[in-house]
Amino acid sequence: MVRNFILYILGIVCFASSCNYQNEEELFPSTTCDTEAMSLASDITPILTNYGCLSCHSTVSNQGSIALENYDDLKEWSDNGILLKSMRHDGALAMPQNQAKMNACDIEKVAAWITDGSLNN
Ligand code: HEC
Repeated sequence: MVRNFILYILGIVCFASSCNYQNEEELFPSTTCDTEAMSLASDITPILTNYGCLSCHSTVSNQGSIALENYDDLKEWSDNGILLKSMRHDGALAMPQNQAKMNACDIEKVAAWITDGSLNN
């Protein structure tokens, strides 16, 4: 009787675990970050918009006298290295101001765009 009960429990456990649905994406979350051929218009500007950089650093609000909305300004802060330092919270004022650090992949995308010459592309 006890043995039947154990078999019964084992059966339920096996059945339940076989029904456990796991897809590949959940088991092996993608860790790749696509930084190929970054474009200012389709990759970088949307990132700056998402983190609110362009609200404080628009031509109108111009906080800290920095208008990242302006390509020439953005290029200057990219070239002097401070843009990336501020995003990485390493060696410059931490940005976005009073907010959590940006997602690592987004920072890498900006870094790749800068490495490619911070083009107005
Ligand atoms: C809430 C408004 C606000 C947001 C959002 C914001 N900034 Fe700033 N940022 C400022 C202000 C204000 C300063 C100037 C602070 C000072 O000089 O004390 C500044 C300074 C900077 C500087 C100069 C840093 C230095 O060390 O001199 C950079 C570069 C910069 N911001 C980039 C960014 C980027 C990139 C984002 C988005 C990831 C961002 N900011 C989001 C308000 C903001």
